[in-house]
Amino acid sequence: MRYAVDKMTISDVPRVVEIERQAYPSTWPPSAYRKELQDNRWAHYIVVRDKHILEERIVGSQEPEKTRKSRPFPLSLLVNRPVAAVPSLGLASIVGFAGLWLMVDEAHVTTIALHPEYRGRGLGELLLVTLIDIAYDIGAKWVTLEVRVSNYTAQNLYRKYGFREAGLRHRYYSDNQEDALIMWTEEINSSSYKRKFLELKALLMKKLESF
Ligand SMILES: CC(C)(COP(=O)(O)OP(=O)(O)OC[C@H]1O[C@@H](n2cnc3c(N)ncnc32)[C@H](O)[C@@H]1OP(=O)(O)O)[C@@H](O)C(=O)NCCC(=O)NCCS
Repeated sequence: MRYAVDKMTISDVPRVVEIERQAYPSTWPPSAYRKELQDNRWAHYIVVRDKHILEERIVGSQEPEKTRKSRPFPLSLLVNRPVAAVPSLGLASIVGFAGLWLMVDEAHVTTIALHPEYRGRGLGELLLVTLIDIAYDIGAKWVTLEVRVSNYTAQNLYRKYGFREAGLRHRYYSDNQEDALIMWTEEINSSSYKRKFLELKALLMKKLESF
C-alpha cells in the first residue's frame, strides 16, 4: 500500500506543525507536541506517510551522478546532500497526523489533520481507524471528541464511524468563539460496533490498496 501509518516521533514535529498550520485556524505551539510525546504517557500520536515521496527521493539520492544531473528541481538539490541528511527526507513524506489521550476508559481524539493536497483519498479515515485500533489496544471503552459545529466534513467522517452528538461546548474555540459539538461512539467493544468497525476498515483497506 502506498500509505503507511507510524508512531509520531519528536523529529516529525516540524512537519506536523507545518501541516497543522494549513489545517486549523489556530495551532498548538510546537513545544506542545514535544511535551505530549515526551511527558504524556496517556497520549498516542501517529503520522501517515506517502511512501512514494520517501521512495522517490531516496532512490534519487542513490542514482549515479550522470542521471542525477538531469533531474529537475527540487530533486536535483537533494541528490548532493550528505548521507546524514537522508533521515530528514522522511519528514517530507508525512501528509497527516492524529492523536488521542486515554482518560480512564475513554479515548479522547485530540487532533486529526491531513495536508490539503491529500484530502478526499481516505487518509483521514485511515487515521481515525488507526486511532480506534489504538483505543482497543489500550483498553478504552468509548471514543469521544469535539468538533466545530461548522466542520461538516469532519462530522461526516465521525458519523461514518458511529460517533453521535452528545451536546455542545459553547464558545469552545477561542479564535472565533465557535461552539464545539461533543461526539461519542457507543461502547466500542459491543459486538455491533466491532462488526461495523471491522466492515468499514476492510472496505477502506481495499480502497487504499488500489492507490
Ligand atoms: C477532516 C479531515 C481529517 C478528513 O480527512 P480526508 O482525508 O479528507 O477524508 P477521507 O477522504 O478519509 O473521507 C472520509 C469520510 O469523511 C467525510 N468527508 C470527506 N471529505 C468530505 C467532504 N468534502 N464533504 C463531506 N464529507 C466528507 C465522508 O464521510 C468520507 O467518507 P466517504 O468517503 O465514505 O464519503 C480533513 O478534511 C482535514 O484534515 N480537515 C482539516 C482539519 C480538521 O478539520 N480536522 C478535524 C478536527 S475535529
